[in-house]
This record gives sequence, C-alpha cells and structure tokens, in this order.
Amino acid sequence: MLPLLATQAAAARELLSPEVLAYIEDGGVAVTEAATAWASMRLLPRVLRDVSSVDTSLTLCGSQLSTPVLVAPTAFHGRVHPEGEAATSRGAAEAGSLMVVATRSDRPVTEMTPPFWWQSYVLRDRGFTLERAVRARDAGASAIVVTGDTPFLAPRSGGLRVPLGDQEQDPTATFAVVEWLASETGLPVLVKGVLRGDDARECLASGASGVIVSNHGGRQLARAATTASALASVVDAVGGAVPVLVDGGLRSGLDVLCALALGATAVLVGKPVLYALAVGGSAAVTACLDALTADLATAMGLAGCATLADVDRSLLA
Ligand SMILES: Cc1cc2nc3c(=O)[nH]c(=O)nc-3n(C[C@H](O)[C@H](O)[C@H](O)COP(=O)(O)O)c2cc1C
Repeated sequence: MLPLLATQAAAARELLSPEVLAYIEDGGVAVTEAATAWASMRLLPRVLRDVSSVDTSLTLCGSQLSTPVLVAPTAFHGRVHPEGEAATSRGAAEAGSLMVVATRSDRPVTEMTPPFWWQSYVLRDRGFTLERAVRARDAGASAIVVTGDTPFLAPRSGGLRVPLGDQEQDPTATFAVVEWLASETGLPVLVKGVLRGDDARECLASGASGVIVSNHGGRQLARAATTASALASVVDAVGGAVPVLVDGGLRSGLDVLCALALGATAVLVGKPVLYALAVGGSAAVTACLDALTADLATAMGLAGCATLADVDRSLLA
C-alpha cells in the first residue's frame, strides 16, 4: 500500500466511531484477498524507451481526465466528514479525476463538482429511480453507473443500519434497466459489479457504454472472486467495444498499472478515499488521488511506458 494511503487509513481509524468504521470495513475475507491478488502480480518492464515525460491523461465517456484513478461510489460521506460528498467530488475534480456519486449520498447532487457520474441502484420505485437519475443529469452528471450486484442488500456483519423505506432495492431488475435508463436520460450507462464474460456480453447487448468489474468490495456475495482474477475474462469478452473499469483493493500505482495491463481503461478506489475524506476533507481526497497518480506515473516510467496506450498485457509476467 502506498505510504500516504496507509497514513490516512491509520489516522481515520483513530477518528471514526467504531460503528462507522465497522460499516466501512465490512466485507470479510474478500477485503484482504482483493489487495493481495493485485500485489501478487509481476511485471515484465520494457527497457530503453523515452520516458522523460509520462502522460496519465485520458478521455473517458466524454470527460477529459488527467488520471485513470477515479472515485468509486460509496454511501453516506456525511458520516465521515461534515461536508460529505460535496467535499469528495471537489477533491476528485481538483485531482483531474471524477467521482461516482452514490444513490445513498448525504448531500444533494446539486452540490457536486463536475465531472461526476451518478450511481443508480434500481429501486422498487422505478419512478423515483429515474427521477433521481434525471436530477443528477440536470446537475451535471455525465454518465450513469447502474450497480448490478445488489438485487438486495446482503446482511451486514456490523455497522450502520439504514432505514431504506421506499429506497428498497428491486430484486426483479434485469439487463433491461440499462436500455431504459439510457433512453430516458440520454446519458451513457455503465454496469457495475460484473465478474463474468457472459454478463459483460449481456451488458453490450443491452446498450451499456461501459462495464465495471467489481465484487462490491466483498460486501455483497461474500465469496465472490477477486476482481484481479476476473478482469481478463471480462476484458476479452468486451473485446474493446466499450471501456472496462475495475475496483477492489487497488492501493498503489503498481496495482493500477497491473489493472491497466490486464486491459482496464481506468480504475476506481473506494475505502482509501473515505479515509482521506475523514482525515482532511477535500484537500486530503485530492492528495490521496494525486499520490496514486504520481505512483502510477513512476510505475509506468519504470515499465517503459510513456502513455496509457503503451500499457498492455505483454507487461504481465
Ligand atoms: C462504505 C462503502 C459503501 C459503499 N457503497 C456503495 C454504493 O452505495 N453503491 C455501490 O455501487 N458500491 C458501493 N460500495 C462499493 C464500492 O463502490 C467499491 O466497489 C468497493 O469499495 C471496492 O473498492 P475498494 O476496495 O477500493 O474500497 C461501497 C463500499 C464501501 C466500502
């Protein structure tokens, strides 16, 4: 793990209440496995390439970003910092990144700093689901991320108990929601939580503009495979048709480089951003993302890659 991320995590654990910490760190075996899986990957660097300047910039679903390290959707930022998601999204934008704003945000979407995407759960109340997506679009969201791995919330081992009421998940949701949200909002729709090639192909057939390989940080199906092990099969199934993103346990530039080498276009980080927000608000979120991006640039340079286009699977041992 990158030293700054370890420092921020340690400081956050001192600050946060046991209840909030238990909520953030829920996920059992999958949490440690996720990071270990990335850390076990080995690289075959290229030598004697001009890496005097390393460029980590990219265009993703129409957004110009200076880093492929994005902020994963996580709920309830108000529990870790008084400014909540407003601070997180400002910190992400400042780093040239973007935040995926969660359905269960504590701050209104009008307080977010573009660029940002809207994470949509499919709720039993489809009208309310769409109303919130449209509101997000009107506030500046440039894409929608449908979380597909949560037909209902898995029982939590501890932490926050949230009264959901009309916000209950709809367990009848199918791939048809992709086309529905895309046509109703006019925004690109990405599906989050994909771990299988066949599901990735279903996403494409339903008009998805991207696929996010994720096991929800191990918070849903407790024995879901690591994203490091599932990514290649999803990338191969998608065949370059749309961007493939990945999250889960990415904690250093080397981890990010390995994910990009497997074929990811970008990655997302969840818990490290929450710890950063807890300890220092928006500036600490920027520092966390900047540190990951700088570490990625170093890893790319040492691997002989001057641009993200130079990163491919031949780098993996
Ligand atoms: C506290 C917490 C809340 C989360 N809430 C959501 C959510 O509302 N929607 C969603 O799609 N994913 C949610 N996730 C999953 C994250 O988007 C991400 O998949 C996961 O945290 C893995 O990344 P990480 O290892 O960098 O934390 C949540 C994760 C955490 C830790």
